[in-house]
Amino acid sequence: MGENLVRNIISRDESIVVWNRSVDKVDALVTETGDSVVKASTIAELIQKTQSPRSIILLVPAGKVTNEVAQELFGLMDEGDSIWDLGNAHWDTTLANQKLAQEHGIHWIGCGISGGSEGARLWPALMPGGEEESIRRMLPLLEKIAAKDFSGKPCVTYVGKAAAGNFVKMVHNGIEYAIMQGIAEIYDILRYGNMSQSEMQTIFKELNTGFLKSFLMDITVDILGVKDADGSDLLTKISDKAGSKGTGGWTVEAALKLGVPVPTIAESLFARWMSGRNTVFHFPWMGTQTETINNPISTKFLHDTLSLVYLGAYLQGLDLIVAAEKEFQWWINLSEVLRIWQGGCIIRSRMLEILPIFYSLPTTADASEFIGSIKTMLDNTSSVLDKLKIPTPVIGSIRDYFMTLSVEKLPTNLIQAMRDSFGAHGVKRIGSDISESFQWK
Ligand code: 6PG
Repeated sequence: MGENLVRNIISRDESIVVWNRSVDKVDALVTETGDSVVKASTIAELIQKTQSPRSIILLVPAGKVTNEVAQELFGLMDEGDSIWDLGNAHWDTTLANQKLAQEHGIHWIGCGISGGSEGARLWPALMPGGEEESIRRMLPLLEKIAAKDFSGKPCVTYVGKAAAGNFVKMVHNGIEYAIMQGIAEIYDILRYGNMSQSEMQTIFKELNTGFLKSFLMDITVDILGVKDADGSDLLTKISDKAGSKGTGGWTVEAALKLGVPVPTIAESLFARWMSGRNTVFHFPWMGTQTETINNPISTKFLHDTLSLVYLGAYLQGLDLIVAAEKEFQWWINLSEVLRIWQGGCIIRSRMLEILPIFYSLPTTADASEFIGSIKTMLDNTSSVLDKLKIPTPVIGSIRDYFMTLSVEKLPTNLIQAMRDSFGAHGVKRIGSDISESFQWK
């Protein structure tokens, strides 16, 4: 990632002083790129070869290594300099590092970066948070290396104060988990309909249009076409035990901390953990093939189901960002977050054009037809579910999410009565704000 970012920066006719623990990597870069890369053999030399107010970009493993390098930098840098952590750290870690750095008069910028290693090389989406002046000083460079949004503006902005950047990047990953699981469940539905992978690829190409046109759908179409050495479909050979570096879990933790429902993001995280099948019990029918669907589900129904997964994942993530802004007052501008996610990042999709409308923000596309079709999409999603005998935790969750948002009465009045019955916690009559307790026996 670090080398790719250096290559991106120098490809924009910028020069950069580079230190790496493996000095030979820097030598190779200097040999290849000439005087755009200035080598620093030590961190002290890195400081000597840069002028204050410096912006030092850290792209080293999070945790121990970052702390060690940071401590050395604190002792060498001047007041007013800034350290840019692009390691996608936990937002709590960034708050702690900002406090440490401030003791030395140094600004710690937690900058989310999205788009994987290819993104870093070509066109990442960048989400910096922290001291505003330090960020604005770096924006001209970041705008050169960042991806472009639908209108051609760079996918980078001053996300907000303190740990706003890492928080927004974390939520980005929570949304990523939910959408990836939703796509995987559509793939499972097609597989359950006994489709060949090339037939599935055709369906996904058809689905990858309109508001669903997106990076994750693009790579799914590509993946479905990849063959193993023997000419068979490689995907069928891949273990179904899913990994995760933790960012989805951080999102659910933050939602619990702030009291924000993110059921679909949570289900997608648990789906990854469930794939490990760490339960002790071996169910007797385990491994038997589920029945196949005789009449495959139409692309229209699948499109509607996936549209609700994308919409629900975004809304749950954005609600979390809104709650964080209310709690921490980091000056997060939701319009800007939705704009910089339009390019470079993993969750980029055309649907981002209409999402502002759900937060009463200006939008560049007409959402009325899409909003008007949500009820039909919900009916179609339910009809898809009725046909299935396979686990679809995200699709099931998204159906219940939108059902919960759309029905007038929920059964939680009975929850209130039960709480009052055994715990005298009080209930409120409909339309009243007065808490009363009743004898429920
Ligand atoms: C990105 C990605 C990236 C993430 C990997 C692995 O925006 O480029 O989100 O930051 O770390 O996708 O994440 P998980 O291991 O948590 O799936």
